[in-house]
Amino acid sequence: MSGVIPIRSICCIGAGYVGGPTMAVIADRCPGVQVTVVDLNQARIDAWNSPDLSKLPVYEPGLDAVVERCRGRNLHFSTAVDAAIASADMVFLSVNTPTKTRGVGAGQASDLRWIEASARQVAAAARAHTIVVEKSTLPVRTAEVIKTILEAAEGDTPTGSKTFSVLSNPEFLAEGTAISDLEAPDRVLIGGNDPASIEALAAIYGQWVPAERILRTNVWSSELSKLTANAFLAQRISSINSIGALCEATEANVREVARAIGADSRIGSKFLKAGPGFGGSCFQKDILNLVYLCRHYGLSEVADYWEAVVNLNAWQQHRISALVVRHLFGTVTGKRIAVLGFAFKADTNDTRETPAIRICGDLLEEGAQLAIFDPKVTAEQMAVDLGRLPLQGSLTDGFSGEGVWQMAASPREAVAGADAVLVLTEWEQFRQLDWQALAPELRHPAWLFDARAICDATAARSSGLKVWCVGEG
Ligand code: NAD
Ligand code: UGA
Repeated sequence: MSGVIPIRSICCIGAGYVGGPTMAVIADRCPGVQVTVVDLNQARIDAWNSPDLSKLPVYEPGLDAVVERCRGRNLHFSTAVDAAIASADMVFLSVNTPTKTRGVGAGQASDLRWIEASARQVAAAARAHTIVVEKSTLPVRTAEVIKTILEAAEGDTPTGSKTFSVLSNPEFLAEGTAISDLEAPDRVLIGGNDPASIEALAAIYGQWVPAERILRTNVWSSELSKLTANAFLAQRISSINSIGALCEATEANVREVARAIGADSRIGSKFLKAGPGFGGSCFQKDILNLVYLCRHYGLSEVADYWEAVVNLNAWQQHRISALVVRHLFGTVTGKRIAVLGFAFKADTNDTRETPAIRICGDLLEEGAQLAIFDPKVTAEQMAVDLGRLPLQGSLTDGFSGEGVWQMAASPREAVAGADAVLVLTEWEQFRQLDWQALAPELRHPAWLFDARAICDATAARSSGLKVWCVGEG
């Protein structure tokens, strides 16, 4: 093929945290392109089509405005997968790729069943030349698998010649800042072998991304760059958390250390915040995938090196729950702990792999009563994540038992009668908490455990609370 292939219609398979926001921004910036996001999950599609924009299935600042501008114009959400594929010039695969839970590679390798199923569906439903774009994060060389599936379906159809080309175009958005990341990306990465297809996709992004930020590589480099970017980012978090633990033991302060090292332009200041360890659906999954690949290629030292990043992260989370127990006189059985924040980071309702799961899980195991407040996470989601239902009734009716939890309607309701407050997510509203007003609500001696270092520790201390702040000696 030569020349740039005009793209008038895009289909995206997978209406999740990536597919929804990414396609909304493409539709917004390319009004001449019809974009249809499809999913098997009817409830999710209904939520994307909800007239009430606060009911969209993904919470992202700014997403509602983009959806409002484009939905019904050139942005559509549907469960009619085959029809959307058939009319598309370009199909993005944006389905989930979680860690395998059974079989070969369980616990490390990516589960590619959804990618394979969607590739087969594209193979069957496409009607003419179709550019298939890997948007999901995939093990290096997955494009080969997709290509093999697609090529088996190539041939003449009543509407023309059915052929395929496969590109890798990994997504680098972070949740909570997805819209600004998509509108002004540091880079867009396109990996492929077919120049015409690469330029067709580059032309889409070229509508709003400066040309020098659109990088072109071979397919394998593109697939591997995505895993590597996440591994490097996660590695910085484990590195700073490891130093945070040393700071706590030595009266150093991890924020001062981070500022000092981050001022070196070779190191840089970002991703050096000590905290309760990284969460989110991807860091752990992608590093474990990298570890699996390294072992597969016989690089066991390389695999061990990256695996340590994940192990340190789990250690940090257990370390925090253990120190809460230690400071509360060695037992939390039957004690009330207010947990502020459940999402894996601020400005998202996503709880996948959130540090709260492991930390709350440990505390429940120790017999604590948890009163959990998060501005965006529902009680239903917390119950799924914690593997236990909340106590019946409302918090204000009283709270008894061991290893039990309830959702609180506000930070104030969460802290009432508690022995400790544990801050796990850096929601802006937790920075503003009025400790003078809250402290009298707790049972003293009472602790503030600030795993994000966002609270006003001076105010909390002067209000009579004992304070532990991550990474502070
Ligand atoms: P998600 O679980 O939120 O969404 C995936 C969607 O795909 C689900 O709604 C599911 O129903 C749908 N789906 C699965 N198989 C399907 C099929 N055969 N046909 C139609 N729909 C199907 O996942 P996500 O967070 O959007 O992540 C998607 C991919 O993007 C993953 O590979 C992930 O690693 C990668 N990624 C995620 C992020 C992030 O911030 N969440 C960022 C960058 C990359
Ligand atoms: C991350 C990457 O930043 C994105 O580039 C990537 O596209 C995405 O993963 C993905 O592939 O899914 P995300 O997980 O949404 O994005 O959010 P981050 O801002 O990276 O935060 C991840 C976790 O690290 C959070 O739990 C956050 O609280 C934690 N974190 C982050 C720290 O503990 N310290 C920091 O300095 C930064």
